[in-house]
Amino acid sequence: MSTVQTAPVDATAPIGHTLRFDAVTKRFDTGTVALTDVSLDVSPGEFVSVVGPSGCGKSTLLRLASGLESITVGEVDNRADVTSFVFQEPTLLEWRSAQKNVELVGELAHVPAAERRARAAEALSLVGLDGFEKQHPRALSGGMRMRVSIARALVAEPQLALFDEPFGALDEITRLRMQTELQRLFQLKGFAAMFITHSISEAVYLSSRVVVMSGRPGRIALDIPLPWSYPRPPELRYEPEFGAIAGQVSAALGEHS
Ligand SMILES: Nc1ncnc2c1ncn2[C@@H]1O[C@H](COP(=O)(O)OP(=O)(O)OP(=O)(O)O)[C@@H](O)[C@H]1O
Ligand SMILES: [Mg+2]
Repeated sequence: MSTVQTAPVDATAPIGHTLRFDAVTKRFDTGTVALTDVSLDVSPGEFVSVVGPSGCGKSTLLRLASGLESITVGEVDNRADVTSFVFQEPTLLEWRSAQKNVELVGELAHVPAAERRARAAEALSLVGLDGFEKQHPRALSGGMRMRVSIARALVAEPQLALFDEPFGALDEITRLRMQTELQRLFQLKGFAAMFITHSISEAVYLSSRVVVMSGRPGRIALDIPLPWSYPRPPELRYEPEFGAIAGQVSAALGEHS
């Protein structure tokens, strides 16, 4: 399941953030402290990437945001009424077609059949899978399977989309193409995004802000806004300013890993 329903938006609450971590510490029952004193806002229309060394608590951060995991100290305020989760692996059901995988979200929410079919078809079309609706996951490429996974996340019209290294398993060319696609969907749909990645250039290319975390226990080492509007041309990756910012992120990672 990729869609997590959270509490309805409080209409009386002041508008400001979609997601807020306020001085969050997470200690697991095993005694492992995964995060310490993390404060971070994701505002509507923001695309925030989080990079950091393996084990610094990035996945934990997303699980706390979605309510899949409880916090130990501090507060998480998720104001989205629908939060979607995209995992590193597409996590599709092999015995269901692409269309039926995307429809599952509507089935579980008891959306009438005709409506959920139409919405699933629209979501698949949005991710460029027209004509592949009836294919099963094994008949799709890695990039196409990830597109189905993204369609499944977006079909519920989330205000907040959480991505845990969704392109980590893809080859470089597919990965660059998926970045362009995701940027287009982000602009079109207007969800706020929190995106985990190990790729500095992916983070800098996609994000309105990049957050760098230190090694475990994770804390925020750098939180840097990016100066470019969307859509961003692929050639941006070769601009000196892009290289300079990527260098800053890399230095913050190096100093703290
Ligand atoms: N359910 C759990 N119980 C106990 N410890 C956990 C649990 N989940 C994660 N951890 C620990 O918390 C720390 C952070 O894990 P997390 O998966 O958030 O790291 P990560 O930054 O996503 O790493 P990676 O980049 O390798 O995916 C690790 O030390 C991990 O062992
Ligand atoms: Mg992880």
